Amino acid sequence: MEKSTNNPLAGARLAFIGCGVMAEALIAGLLRKQLVTAEQIVGSHPRTARREELYTKYATRMFASNREAVLEAHPNGADGSPRAGSLVILAVKPQRLTKVLHELKGSLHPEQLVVSIVAGARCEAIAGELLHPSVVRAMPNTPAQIGQGMTAWTATPEVNEFQQNEVAAMFAALGEAMRVENERQIDMATALSATGPTYVFLMMEALVDAGVHMGFSRHVAQDLVEQMMLGSVLFARESQKHPAELRNMVTSPGGTSAEAIYQMEKGGLRTVLSKAVWAAYQRAEALGGKKSNE
Ligand SMILES: NC(=O)c1ccc[n+]([C@@H]2O[C@H](COP(=O)([O-])OP(=O)(O)OC[C@H]3O[C@@H](n4cnc5c(N)ncnc54)[C@H](OP(=O)(O)O)[C@@H]3O)[C@@H](O)[C@H]2O)c1
Repeated sequence: MEKSTNNPLAGARLAFIGCGVMAEALIAGLLRKQLVTAEQIVGSHPRTARREELYTKYATRMFASNREAVLEAHPNGADGSPRAGSLVILAVKPQRLTKVLHELKGSLHPEQLVVSIVAGARCEAIAGELLHPSVVRAMPNTPAQIGQGMTAWTATPEVNEFQQNEVAAMFAALGEAMRVENERQIDMATALSATGPTYVFLMMEALVDAGVHMGFSRHVAQDLVEQMMLGSVLFARESQKHPAELRNMVTSPGGTSAEAIYQMEKGGLRTVLSKAVWAAYQRAEALGGKKSNE
């Protein structure tokens, strides 16, 4: 790989702790976009079969021990570059996190940056458990698995500018990434962009069912709905018009859209969506263990 000086991850070392679906999406995206080489990545996983699978697919070195993976990714190791950073990405399920943090305590190099994508795990809790202040907390979503994700992330004050650039570059490998101001906004993004695919899939399912109800075969209804949703989003993005304006453009007097809108408003669709997002936000806060007022 040609190392670009504009690539903040050039020469960096990355350790993925818990190589499941999300870690693999990140590894695949980083390699596909040539932001890092396989030699820069190590991973850990408790199962031999999974370690072998990832080594075969990506040629990344895999360890059974989480601690060993972190030590392997210490900065200024084999690479020797003084500017190269080192990122430790926590990608285990929330219920495994406490055990993993206990294991990693004392193994981190002061210059290593901890990046957690674990839902609900607060920076303060991770930093406190690891005795390591540089922590980034991020919330990706499922389309990240095909490089079309939306990731919101925030950092503790100890994370320097160089490390922030590394994080932004890493999450760009999953699609779009946005730095938010604080963890309250991570909870808000959890409700909106991370839980969001659920809202879309439910609407997609309901529309396909409605197509079947009218008499379309399921696969025809699915094709019609999928392309309609994709095209509508791309159109909204490209036109840069307010959604209400776009909706008005297709609502002719006495027409089909007017009739459909009347029924959606009568059924409270707008209110239901708003309540769903608010409920998800409150749940995100509760799962984090406390209200975040940062
Ligand atoms: N998937 C998403 O769209 C998404 C979105 C936002 C945030 N997240 C967050 O991202 C994290 C990872 O999610 P995921 O979907 O990638 O989950 P996942 O596929 O279950 O990945 C977690 C991996 O960690 C492994 N593991 C279990 N115990 C471990 C240990 N002690 N040490 C190291 N690895 C261990 C698991 O192995 P086994 O398979 O053997 O259990 C599994 O392969 C979660 O905290 C989730 O909240 C995910």
